[in-house]
Amino acid sequence: MGKGLVRIIGVGSYAPEKIYTNQDLEKMVDTTDEWIVTRSGIRERHIAAEDEAASDLGAKAARKAIEDAGIKPSEVDLIITATISPDMMFPSTACLIQNKLGLTDTAAFDINAACSGFIYGITIAEQFLKNDVYKTVLFIGTEALSKITNWKDRQTCVLLGDGAGAAVLRKENGENGILSSYLSSNGSYSDLLLMPGGGSRIPATVDTVRRNLHYFTMKGNETFKVAVPKLYDSAIEGLKRCGMTVGDVDLFIPHQANIRIIQAVARKLKIPMEKMFVNIEKYGNTSAATIPIALDEAKREGRIKEGDIIEFIGFGAGFTWGSVVVRW
Ligand code: UT7
Repeated sequence: MGKGLVRIIGVGSYAPEKIYTNQDLEKMVDTTDEWIVTRSGIRERHIAAEDEAASDLGAKAARKAIEDAGIKPSEVDLIITATISPDMMFPSTACLIQNKLGLTDTAAFDINAACSGFIYGITIAEQFLKNDVYKTVLFIGTEALSKITNWKDRQTCVLLGDGAGAAVLRKENGENGILSSYLSSNGSYSDLLLMPGGGSRIPATVDTVRRNLHYFTMKGNETFKVAVPKLYDSAIEGLKRCGMTVGDVDLFIPHQANIRIIQAVARKLKIPMEKMFVNIEKYGNTSAATIPIALDEAKREGRIKEGDIIEFIGFGAGFTWGSVVVRW
C-alpha cells in the first residue's frame, strides 16, 4: 500500500433551471412564506424539468467536477452515486451517468444512505483509493426529489428540492486529505422517513398509487429531535478519531435539512454560525446532494483555503449519520 492521503481534487454541482419560490408554493398548498422561512430557512428550491432525472443532473455535476480536477473522464476508474431518487430501481444511476459521460469500462454502483450519502460515499471511495484498488474515484450525490414529492402534502413539499454535487478523489502524497471518517445508523427509525411503496415490501399497484405510497414521507418533528443530537455526536466523533477538537475546525459543512437543525447543532458545539456553511435558503433539502453542492459553493466563494480543516456532517433516512474530517 502506497503512502498518502485521499484528497478531493475536484468538485462541481448543478441545479435545474426552474425555481419554485415560497410564493409559488403558497399557490399550491395551504402554507405561507413566513412559515417556511421561520420553520426551515428555505426561500426557494430548484425543480427538475419533466424530462430531467437524477442521472441528468448527476452527469452535469460530474462533468464540472472532472473539469475542476483537471483530468480526462477516461481517467475515472470507479463511479459511486448516492441517491434516493434514482432514474429507476435498476440499473444503477451510476451506470446511467457513466454512459452519459461516454465511459464504457469503469466500476459503477449506487449507494443509498439517504441524506448521509456524501459521508458514506466518500468514505467508501477512500477505502478503494487508500488500498490502491483504484486511482481515481468519481462520487456523485444527485436527487430529483421533486419526482417523489407529494405536491399536495405541505409538510414535505415545502422542504425538498432537486440538484447534484460531485467530487473527484485521488490519493496524493502529503498531509492534506481525509483525516478521519465516522459512519453509523439505526434502522429502528426506518418508519420516520421513507418512501413506503414501489419496492418488494409494497410493490406498485393502482391501489398503492391511490394511497400516495410512492412519495417521500416524513414525521418531521420526530426526525428533527434525532437529527440534532446525531449530527452533534457525528461532529465530535469524527474529530476524536483524528485527535482534533471543535476549535480546530475552520468550516463545518452540514447536511442542509433545516436551518434550525444547523443552528441547534452550532449551539451544542458552542461555535458561531459563521463556522457553519449554510445555503439551504436557495436549494431546500436535496438529500444526498446537499453537502457536495454546499462544498462546491463554499469553495467557489473562497470559504475554503488549502490546509483548512473542514468537517462534513450528515444525517438522513435509515436513520444514517456520520462525518468526514478533511485537511483541504
Ligand atoms: O433530510 C433528512 C432529515 N430531515 C430532517 O432532519 C427534517 C427534520 N424536521 C424538520 O425540519 C421540521 O420538523 C419541519 C420543518 C418538517 C417541521 O417543523 P416543526 O417545527 O417540527 O413543525 P411541526 O411539524 O411540529 O408542525 C407545526 C405546525 C402544525 O400545525 P399544528 O398541529 O400546530 O396546528 C403543522 O400542521 O405547522 C403546521 N405545518 C404547516 N403550516 C404551514 C406543517 N407544515 C406546514 C406548512 N405550512 N408547510
